[in-house]
Amino acid sequence: MKKEKIILTGDRPTGKLHIGHYVGSLRRRVELQNSGLYDRIFVFEADGQALTDNIDNPAKVRSNVIEVALDYLAVGLDPTKTTLFIQSQIPELCELTFYFMDLVSVARLQRNPTVKTEIGMRGFGESIPVGFFTYPVSQAADIAAFRATHVPAGEDQEPMIEQCREIVRRFNHIYGETLTEPEIMLPDNSACLRLPGTDGKAKMSKSLGNCIYLADTADEVERKVKSMYTDPGHLRVSDPGKIEGNCVFTYLDAFCCPDHFGRYLPDYASLDELKVHYMRGGLGDMKVKKFLGAVMQEMLEPIRKRRAEWESDIPSVVEILRKGCEEAREVAADTMDDVRRAMKINYFDDTSLMDERAAGKED
Ligand code: TRP
Repeated sequence: MKKEKIILTGDRPTGKLHIGHYVGSLRRRVELQNSGLYDRIFVFEADGQALTDNIDNPAKVRSNVIEVALDYLAVGLDPTKTTLFIQSQIPELCELTFYFMDLVSVARLQRNPTVKTEIGMRGFGESIPVGFFTYPVSQAADIAAFRATHVPAGEDQEPMIEQCREIVRRFNHIYGETLTEPEIMLPDNSACLRLPGTDGKAKMSKSLGNCIYLADTADEVERKVKSMYTDPGHLRVSDPGKIEGNCVFTYLDAFCCPDHFGRYLPDYASLDELKVHYMRGGLGDMKVKKFLGAVMQEMLEPIRKRRAEWESDIPSVVEILRKGCEEAREVAADTMDDVRRAMKINYFDDTSLMDERAAGKED
């Protein structure tokens, strides 16, 4: 039998999604969804994982479950092609995590560089929640439960996927080929790896207030683009400007394509030409920002429109999630049947396990 190609990926619902998520992952997911190359696609909200450092604020996670679902639908994830579901509604994931916990050591988890950084950033001190520390194990279960072969994710997720592969290998080694080793699909365009915030800081983050959200109005987007960080040394239009570290150009790298010039800035043929002029001097920030604004609005407008449509029909969004959870649960339950059978802990299905003892044969 030909091995199925199964995609699984997800996000922690801790805030609305922004254009950093869009270039880094969402845009690609929609392409993958529409490519027709995959047998199944699962995109889920890791609300359980979000709770590992928000357990005192479940309202935040709860409200963002709907916001993120709206963002998914707005960018073009299509529930008839992609199963959208919520992690906490799939109890099989807890069950698989329970066994996976025995296949990884504390020392191995302590070496996971992503978790290490995150623990430092959150300032847990001596009080690291066990659930947070072990979330890579639960993440391995998320992936394995759906037999995912491909996990589209950013490079920060590489250690998670590696850990999942190790756990799956160990499981299969002990109990026989049962689970699938996934591989990560990294973003292919370097401009997509990480979009800086509008203030030029390395990352878009809600706490820094430097995000452009998919749900922002046209006015908000315009205001944010206008106040974007450029080159602090570029004081007069005639001054030569720097491209490196200049957000406006980083964003253009990520979003602009050749035909945008014809539509919005016909004096230039390409982004390279625009850059050359900026570096030489004589090109003002406002002109470039106006162009970027037009490029961004063109991209965001259809997303905003679709989001508004779904927003006026929240019960349908809830129904999509409910159906998605049902579908997802069937798949995870099926994997768990195989897992229990492989581990020979399906005592009541496989009566031979008990019969052996009854017949006096101890194994
Ligand atoms: N850790 C991911 C994030 O921070 C979310 C996530 C949870 C995930 N489980 C996953 C991603 C499984 C890919 C596959 O966004």
